[in-house]
Amino acid sequence: MNGPWPGEVVILADAEDVARAAAERIAVASARAVAERGTFSIALAGGTTPAATYSHLATAPLRDSVAWPAWRVFFGDERWVAHDHPDSNFAMASRTLLSRVPVNAAHVHPIPTDAPDAEAAAKNYGGVMRASVGVTVDAIPQLDMILLGMGDDAHTASLFPGSPLFADRDCAYGAARRPADASLRISATPALIQAARAIAVIVTGSAKSAPLARAWASAGVTHDLPITLLREARGSVSWFCDTAAATPAGGGASAAPRITTRKACPQ
Ligand code: 6PG
Repeated sequence: MNGPWPGEVVILADAEDVARAAAERIAVASARAVAERGTFSIALAGGTTPAATYSHLATAPLRDSVAWPAWRVFFGDERWVAHDHPDSNFAMASRTLLSRVPVNAAHVHPIPTDAPDAEAAAKNYGGVMRASVGVTVDAIPQLDMILLGMGDDAHTASLFPGSPLFADRDCAYGAARRPADASLRISATPALIQAARAIAVIVTGSAKSAPLARAWASAGVTHDLPITLLREARGSVSWFCDTAAATPAGGGASAAPRITTRKACPQ
């Protein structure tokens, strides 16, 4: 798929503004989904960037505006560590959000990391999501929203460059390994991400500017730059970036894709 990227790019002055804007967008998506379907299904992103967004969601006024009991919480990926391990994405989301808001614990679904077989755990997790969410697109669960980050190699979730999960169009989750240290991960597949009604990508910091510019400049989906899978997203794609990430190193015009709406930094 060539031509303009689907979606929008929101470029703000700094990471704090980005975190606030992303949190507000999540709250709006939640309100719309609950009004239309009674629940809000979301896959949370891991890593470090989303922590500030989660903290904004867990703080008034946003905290008091969200219908937390209607949330169905999943994870876009997980490191194969215990849920109380410092590297656990579930631990990070619990610390910054889930322990601070009245979600229904029965509707919070951490990716299991204590099973003997990661592949089986990934497949089972996809089944848990399908049973909870109910709606599917080509047999893949359709979430209301997926949050994503991006690594400095343009990976997203635990879809690293050349990931074999690009070929798996029938499953929602699979096992993966992080190339840098061969550590085991469970990740949403491109098929699951592309099926979501809405995708919010949160990318901040100058270290992400080069890979982001390469991804935005790509002519189509390329497995070397996994975040380009968003070119074939079925739903809405919203990039929340600070100027450090959205402006190529050395200055110059942003490489942001041709987009429908763009909110430059407030002057
Ligand atoms: C993970 C994330 C991963 C993350 C990027 C960016 O488990 O690490 O799912 O895809 O979003 O690696 O990480 P930072 O936000 O820490 O830069």
